[in-house]
Amino acid sequence: MINKATEKSINEQINAELFSFYLYLAMSTHFQHANFGGFARWMRAQAQEEMSHAMKFIDYVHDRGGAVALAAIEQPKGEWPSAQAAFEAAYAHEKSITKRINTLMDKAVAAKDHATANFLQWFVKEQVEEEAALDPIVARLQAIGDHPGALYYLDHELGKRGA
Ligand code: FEO
Repeated sequence: MINKATEKSINEQINAELFSFYLYLAMSTHFQHANFGGFARWMRAQAQEEMSHAMKFIDYVHDRGGAVALAAIEQPKGEWPSAQAAFEAAYAHEKSITKRINTLMDKAVAAKDHATANFLQWFVKEQVEEEAALDPIVARLQAIGDHPGALYYLDHELGKRGA
């Protein structure tokens, strides 16, 4: 049985994952509108991953006999001044999610909640991958600057990401 404090923390994380879904969906539609189909596809795949993260937490709460409480999802921004700005915002967002996961893990360890700590290991590893995926994209966009040819090339490259 999950304890009430952990149940509350995980419910907050479910909301954070759903906001992540919403944020990347907003970025995807923004890029679609701006005719960057590759960036849009990459962000849509990212949004779908976030939805799967929310579902993992939901399933875990149920598996441990807890109750899921869904709260309102914050409205994300709808546009960004450049692809670089959007991907920098995505990278910053992932760093904030990593912090949240680490705090959840700290609490689970402090509470000697081995099941939750074991469950969270998957997310610890996932956050390494999330940050590692965004870091080089941000670096490339910073190097590209205003060069349209290079920007469209990167758009094409990122469009190869499977959903
Ligand atoms: Fe679910 Fe991108 O963290």
